[in-house]
Amino acid sequence: MSNQENLEMAHRQHVKYFMRFLDILPSSLSSHDTTRVTIAYFSVAGLDVLGSITSISVELRSRIIEWLYHLQVHPNKETGDMSMCGFQGSSTINMELHPENAHYLCGHLAMTYTALCTLVTLGDDLSRVNRKALVEGVKALQTEEGNFAATLSGCESDMRFVYCAACISYILDDWSGFDKEKAADYIIKSIGYDYGIAQCPELESHGGTTYCALATLQLTGQLHKLSDQQIEGLKRWLVLRQIDGFQGRPNKPVDTCYSFWVGASLKMLKTLKYTNYGSNRSYVYETQDVIVGGFSKWPDTCTDPMHTYLGLAGLSLIGEKGLLKIVPTLNITKRAFEHLQSLHEQWAKES
Ligand code: FPP
Ligand code: ZN
Repeated sequence: MSNQENLEMAHRQHVKYFMRFLDILPSSLSSHDTTRVTIAYFSVAGLDVLGSITSISVELRSRIIEWLYHLQVHPNKETGDMSMCGFQGSSTINMELHPENAHYLCGHLAMTYTALCTLVTLGDDLSRVNRKALVEGVKALQTEEGNFAATLSGCESDMRFVYCAACISYILDDWSGFDKEKAADYIIKSIGYDYGIAQCPELESHGGTTYCALATLQLTGQLHKLSDQQIEGLKRWLVLRQIDGFQGRPNKPVDTCYSFWVGASLKMLKTLKYTNYGSNRSYVYETQDVIVGGFSKWPDTCTDPMHTYLGLAGLSLIGEKGLLKIVPTLNITKRAFEHLQSLHEQWAKES
């Protein structure tokens, strides 16, 4: 459905849309079963940015929290090894494995990051998170180059997981598993000739990976390591990603999610205010489904929870009425972030 004329938020429909994902995974998303935690995160954070976290009943809240804790991988009972600790993405892969396959029982950085964000957003106190073990799990995944693999069972290592590892360390308020200097070296090496930032050195600059890199530098207090020339070049590269909405790289179509990835990057560099809010907003609204709720990446295409959450988060960054403020680095609401700060204060008193 084209909503070019419709610049009104279909608030009630979006709440119902997210609530459905907390009950059931539609068959169209069955291939995402192993990353179900991310869907819970987009839905819970989406309800939060809509100011509707209370739509989640006390009973449902506690079911989601129990399910998430059930996905936590604990230290090896015999050896005490913590290198596989973290959260898994789905109950489907959280099972007793034959000993020869036991190495598949391991956390995944993106699942750990989104599980922690979901717990914080639901107001949990993280008391059942094995913080020491999760930090050891993060430590085991940093490579010599400074980036991170997603899991110990073998997979790619790139900027996305540098970001997830930084968020986990920030949320747990423990950086002993994250070598900040090595990560910053890796990020700086991944800056392209055009000043955008890529997944790895020598690859194409991309809005999503630029976000991951900048948020990591901000969370680790290392933004000052970028030279004035790098900062200016980066601002220029990011601002030029606006067409009406934002694209992720030159000559590619705009996509709702970049109103967040590029918008949040610009916000961290205090430069979002120089973009055209009106045309950004109009584009995101063109991708809104006003009947069943949700946003898609392009007008008249299928909605999904990721683009719905990121569309709302992108609108929040430009001050859309009726939405809660988003913290650009961690990608949770300011309300949830304040809860996290109170947990940090409590842990500091206890230690
Ligand atoms: C599509 O590439 C890729 C995306 C829309 C995701 C980009 C976002 C990131 C890399 C950040 C991920 C963050 C975490 C925390 C995992 P494409 O080639 O299909 O799209 P394009 O044409 O827009 O470049
Ligand atoms: Zn997208």
